[in-house]
Amino acid sequence: MSVYQKLVTLGVLLLSMALPCHLRAETGYDAWLRYSVLTDSERVKYGSLPASVVVFGESTVLHAAQQEMVRGVQGMLGRILRVGKDQVEEKAIVLGTLDGLRSVAPWLQGREGLHADGFWLTTGKIQGFDCVIITALKDRGVLYGMFAFLSKMARNESVAALNEVQQPYAPIRWVDQWDNLDGRIERGYAGPSIFFDNGNVRGDLTRARDYARLLASIGINGCTINNVNADPRVLEDSFLPELTRVADAFRLWGVQLAISVNLSSPKAVGGLDTFDPLDPRVEQWWRKRVDVLYREIPDFAGFVIKADSEGQAGPSTYNRTAADAANVIARALKPHGGIVFYRAFVYNHHLDWREPKNDRAKAAYDFFHPLDGKFEDNVIIQIKHGPIDFQVREPASPLFGGLRSTNQAIELQVTQEYMGQQRHLCFLAPMWKEVLDFDLHVGGGQTPVKDLVAGKVFHRPTGGFVGVVNVGMDANWLGHPLAMANLYAFGRLAWNPNLSASTLADEWTRLSFSSDPIVVKTIGAMQVASWHVYESYTGPLGAGTLTDILGSHYGPDVDSSERNGWGQWHRGDHEGIGMDRTVSTGTGYSGEYTAAVATLYESIATTPDELLLFFHHVPYTHVLHSGKTVIQHIYDSHYQGAEQAQHYVHQWESLKGRIDDERYAAVLARLEYQAGHAIVWRDAICTWFRRMSGIADAEKRVGNYPDRTEAESMQLEGYVPLDVMPPENASGGKAVECSPEAHRCVASLRFAAPAGWYELDVQYFDQNNGESTFRLLVGEQVIDEWVADDHLPAVKVGGDSSTRHRTKKLALRPGDRVRIEGTPDGREHAAFDYIEIRPAN
Ligand code: GCU
Repeated sequence: MSVYQKLVTLGVLLLSMALPCHLRAETGYDAWLRYSVLTDSERVKYGSLPASVVVFGESTVLHAAQQEMVRGVQGMLGRILRVGKDQVEEKAIVLGTLDGLRSVAPWLQGREGLHADGFWLTTGKIQGFDCVIITALKDRGVLYGMFAFLSKMARNESVAALNEVQQPYAPIRWVDQWDNLDGRIERGYAGPSIFFDNGNVRGDLTRARDYARLLASIGINGCTINNVNADPRVLEDSFLPELTRVADAFRLWGVQLAISVNLSSPKAVGGLDTFDPLDPRVEQWWRKRVDVLYREIPDFAGFVIKADSEGQAGPSTYNRTAADAANVIARALKPHGGIVFYRAFVYNHHLDWREPKNDRAKAAYDFFHPLDGKFEDNVIIQIKHGPIDFQVREPASPLFGGLRSTNQAIELQVTQEYMGQQRHLCFLAPMWKEVLDFDLHVGGGQTPVKDLVAGKVFHRPTGGFVGVVNVGMDANWLGHPLAMANLYAFGRLAWNPNLSASTLADEWTRLSFSSDPIVVKTIGAMQVASWHVYESYTGPLGAGTLTDILGSHYGPDVDSSERNGWGQWHRGDHEGIGMDRTVSTGTGYSGEYTAAVATLYESIATTPDELLLFFHHVPYTHVLHSGKTVIQHIYDSHYQGAEQAQHYVHQWESLKGRIDDERYAAVLARLEYQAGHAIVWRDAICTWFRRMSGIADAEKRVGNYPDRTEAESMQLEGYVPLDVMPPENASGGKAVECSPEAHRCVASLRFAAPAGWYELDVQYFDQNNGESTFRLLVGEQVIDEWVADDHLPAVKVGGDSSTRHRTKKLALRPGDRVRIEGTPDGREHAAFDYIEIRPAN
């Protein structure tokens, strides 16, 4: 380290010490449990908070609750509470179940209606002293009550004179992780698994324990730790001690362990020659396996099953039904209180796309509705929120209304598979709310999805909410610091689906950043708008996310949905676009809803614009309720969406100094990237529709980029033109890349506009199989230099890898030679698409 570097380091250190505490450097690891110190004026509210926390009863969960209370109060008020047990000797915060408090506070017992996992925050005298009381039927409820109490403080709400009962909406509030035993995560965007590494459970489960703490704080009570495409090895004898360790790590926080199992396990690892669910040997095998599991993990929660789906083995092998398969396992679990989640994601991915009546959207209903009432009462059918697969816009699955005598749970996806993979900001609560609040009209009165899944409509014994999360080893859990709002919102909605999206964004921001009104307002506004913004440049009018469905599910690729058996078709051609799913002329899907809903979707006149192309095939000239034609809507929404994505950067920049520098910089980098990638999306989708429809953009934006110079039209040394596929994923269908023999390549142009300050964007391709270096030179002066070292899901030049680098405030005058110099690395050939030079503001 040079003397200069030492001085800089010292300076940074002194500066960071001088910063107010709430601006200490943060990685995001603490998520919404930061307990950051309250300001003096905020602290006044808690002046009379007792100095001790007394727990009544003995359990790891209650102990954890007490420790957490100490931690929280210390963090926020700087006071270290005295801990006590089973005895109140001064004013105290008291933690205990109703049973545990029976002898010292008999007056608490009359509380009506408190049920499992619910809690009661109240005040009263215990053993002669004024106490704040956090009580519940069960230890876990006390834990949840404690977290609710600390959350109130962290959001600076009053905790004086409390008398509040909270009950969860449904018993099932689970998360699923799609982690593979080798440590990779299917559709995970935040590093490797916190559970597995190299075929085994990790030696150090600190992160698993901390994850359980986060989950408990939002009321999540179960977690399935492995991929639904399950490795049969999880049921091998040798794996049981490994699972036991995870269950131990979770137990402290009241999170029950579950695993995904492969239906072929009796054959794959059990030594049988069959996995036919009706074969008595198979039944016996499951029973024995389950008994052994419960001997080691008495609070084991259950199994998740993906069968007859995307290549997973299933009961169809033996001509048996999903009920046959689910029930044989459910019967093994029942004596232990375990549950089977049987996923409704069953469909044929070899559908003939030429047959206009074929429709993947119908699959779940067609498979499961006829089986209604045939499942054991500890089976839950786990249903994705829409009938396809977590697209940017789908109607609520009709299966929620198609099961009246069967338990159900809604599956929501927190990991942003089709929603920008945590590189694009996309707060999902507004989308989830639309589905949860959607009335399927299946009984008398209102029957919104949230009530159906909670089992309230048909009085089911269980049901609820499952979120596919896929946190990873990245310090901030989900990759994008703002993406954790989705996990927070999922847990809170599972607890109370009546909360609004803006309330959730507000709560999350206060807890995760600060209660500074400008921070709360700005982040809240960005979050709440972000689903619509993302939708407006990726998936218009219910056509689905127009992404590469055969590969990464990330960048644009409109054609990839067509001419294959996956059934994510939008049927866009030269005449028009959309899937006709009506009963009268289409696939008949709309008839899977009850009459009130079916009528709404059957007619173009009543179908909401945002779902038009999900239900109807229309010409591009069709006029929407908004008064625009379909084609002009597509152009306009893509331009507006990309514009709004640029605006995020400015919104975020207005927060500089109001949040810690680390997270400020991390978020800014993602938003700047998103702003560039939104333009890649905009241009790709608009170009495709322009070509397909033959109809020009009334605003003349599409295909007309006045500030842009195509790389292939620059003077090239070592660079050679490259045709990009699909062509709309590069401007003009072409890029340039370094020829194989070149070690360094140059593309240049002579600047011809008036002298002034300019902003220069280089649209380059950042693959994950090399780290090319780029330099921007004006004349001989090196102006900027960067490395293409992001980890995008991309191995080739195209819409996944296309990335923008912006150089701000650059002095240019006519005649300047502007040069882009690329040095390839590995299999990345320093490719770029175009440059744009525009006057700087
Ligand atoms: C999507 C996803 C798969 C996943 C599947 C599922 O199709 O792309 O990776 O396995 O959903 O939910 O089972």
